[in-house]
This record gives sequence, C-alpha cells and structure tokens, in this order.
Amino acid sequence: MTIIIKMREGLDEKKIKVAAKFIREGKLVAFPTETVYGLGANALDSKAVKRIFEAKGRPADNPLIVHIADFNQVHELAREVPPEVELLAKHFWPGPLTVVLPKRENVPRITTGGLDTVAIRMPAHEIALGLIRASKRPIAAPSANISGKPSPTLAEHVIDDFYGRIECIIDGGETKIGVESTVLDLTTKPPTLLRPGGLPMEEIERVIGKIKIHPAVKGKEVNLAKAPGMKYKHYAPNAQVIVIEGVREKVKGKIMELLMEYKKQGIKVGVMATGDFYEADAYVNLGNSEEEIARNLFKALRELDKSGVDIILAEGIEEKGLGLAVMNRLRKAAGYKIIKV
Ligand code: TXA
Ligand code: MG
Repeated sequence: MTIIIKMREGLDEKKIKVAAKFIREGKLVAFPTETVYGLGANALDSKAVKRIFEAKGRPADNPLIVHIADFNQVHELAREVPPEVELLAKHFWPGPLTVVLPKRENVPRITTGGLDTVAIRMPAHEIALGLIRASKRPIAAPSANISGKPSPTLAEHVIDDFYGRIECIIDGGETKIGVESTVLDLTTKPPTLLRPGGLPMEEIERVIGKIKIHPAVKGKEVNLAKAPGMKYKHYAPNAQVIVIEGVREKVKGKIMELLMEYKKQGIKVGVMATGDFYEADAYVNLGNSEEEIARNLFKALRELDKSGVDIILAEGIEEKGLGLAVMNRLRKAAGYKIIKV
C-alpha cells in the first residue's frame, strides 16, 4: 500500500506529519529534493535502511547519503569535521553538495555501505527540510529509482518504480536541478570530487581552492574502493545509448547521418539533443543552457525508452559548469559507447 501525498504548492505542515510518522516508524518515504527525488528512511535505523537497499535492488556496498536540516547534525554523524566543511556549508548549504567525512559509531554500517565514512547533505527543498525536521531524524536517501534506472525528477517516475512497494510518495512536482548532488570527499588532501553533480566544481574551487577529480568521474575504471557508486552501470535505459561528442555543428551533422543510416536498416532511433530532429522515431529537445539540459536529461532518457526505440543518439556537450555532471551521466548511460567527431 502506497499513500501518495500531493504537495505541489510547497510544504504543507499538516500533511508532512503523516510522512514524518512513517519515517519514525522505520518505513520508506519518497520525497522531492532540488536535485532528484530521494527514497528516504531513518538513517540511524538499520532495519529501515535495509529496506531501501531491498526496494532499489541496490548492491550492499554502495553507501547512502544522509540528509540533514541543521548544520549541528553534521557533528552528530561525523567524527571529524575539517574547517572546509563549515566554509562549504556557509556557501552552498542548503544545496546540491554532499560531503564525505569520517563517521561516528552511531551511524550504522549498512547506511555507509560498510565504509568508515559517511556522506552528508542538506537539501535545498522545503519539503525535504520539512520532512527531516518533522521526523526529527537524519534521513538516508538514495535517488528514488530502481538500481540501474535513470534518477527520478518527477513523482510519476517514482510511482513507476515503487508504487505498491513503499509506504509513501510525496509529490512535489518536478525537481529543479535534475542531476544529483556533487559528492566531495573531505577525508583526502586536497579534497576529491567523487561525483560531479548539481554544484559545479568550479564553484567549489572558488571557495576552497583546487580539488582532485577521481579518475572514475571521467570513466576510468581504477581504484573504486572510495567511490563505490562509480562501479555500477547507472542510468541505463533499455535502448542502446550512443553519445556523439565534438564541435557542436559537426555533432549535429553526425547525428543526422547516423539517424538516416539506422532508419534505412529499419532500426528505430531516438534522439536527445539541443535541437529538433523531426526525422527521428522519437526525440527530445533538451534545451540550450547547461541548466536546462541537466533538468531535462533523466526525463528524456525515461521518455525515449518508453517510446520503444532501439537506439538513442545523444548529443554531447562541453564539460564546464553543469556540463561535467551531464556528460558523466550520459557516458554512463551509454556504457561508454562514444563517437568523437
Ligand atoms: O542529489 C542527490 O545526491 C540525491 C538526492 C536524493 O539527495 N541522492 C543520490 O543518492 O543521488 P545516490 O545514493 O543515488 O547516490 C549517492 C552517491 C553514490 O555514488 C555513493 O556511492 C556516494 O554517493 N556515496 C555515499 N556515501 C559515500 C561514502 N561514504 N564514500 C564515498 N561515496 C559515497
Ligand atoms: Mg542514484
């Protein structure tokens, strides 16, 4: 039985109490954040967290992000809090930044995928913050999708994946950013970018100086112990995705050329690009700015997949700003099948 709570107009203090009670009782509640929807449970309750892993079909060694609503909660979860954390929080919290810190004893191993560190973030969404406050618990929440599917940016996506399998879904409309938070490991010096996301790394560097990029971010398969999330095939639709990268005009030409070639062979082709492709069996115009493209990315993957195409041709974009997060997701969705022009 799944209760769907509509909260399209923002936080409703009365309705949020219903969802908060579920959290306190060890049940699962999907809720919107500014990045993507999360599948939440009490982060300190091993049994509840176990249910998240089961519902998603998530490998046990892929740790969860713990969501907080008040900076003091960092000290309740983390054993050591380097000065950069306060600085980053001042600039970017609430917001799409997750920090990895040494964990305290009270954080169950199951929440951190067996690691000695914990990932913490304060989301910039009044419903998410309202839920954390009303339940008086830190909330562990991975993206609310079945493992291997694109992250959900609409309540409908969560309903598609989890209806009947979790207690509650809060429908807060479409998420604003559309890609997940940036994950930054602060147990290394300099800090390491483990996952590019909603907060561009350029902005982080403006505040704390140079950071390292984990090689897995760009698709190199080395030393994944610290970035377990990078190991698994992610964001994979049923259709084969092919990313076409290079100078924009050439990329568009190549997409058109491939499109015509596949069509001739009777293959159904979908296109996701920064423009219209009327010749395709299905296409999504992602928009033009990095922000628009990020916002539309996962929805486009789900939509094109539903349309039943065999192949999805995706236009690559420049890896600056949110472009780094977009390209990281696209290349993963493609299983690193990339054509450079
Ligand atoms: O925007 C987001 O981050 C969303 C919303 C719901 O907050 N959540 C999200 O969670 O994307 P998830 O579980 O889909 O991704 C969490 C990522 C994974 O790549 C995981 O491996 C990494 O964070 N992570 C979590 N804890 C970690 C840790 N202790 N050390 C290294 N990586 C960690
Ligand atoms: Mg995820």
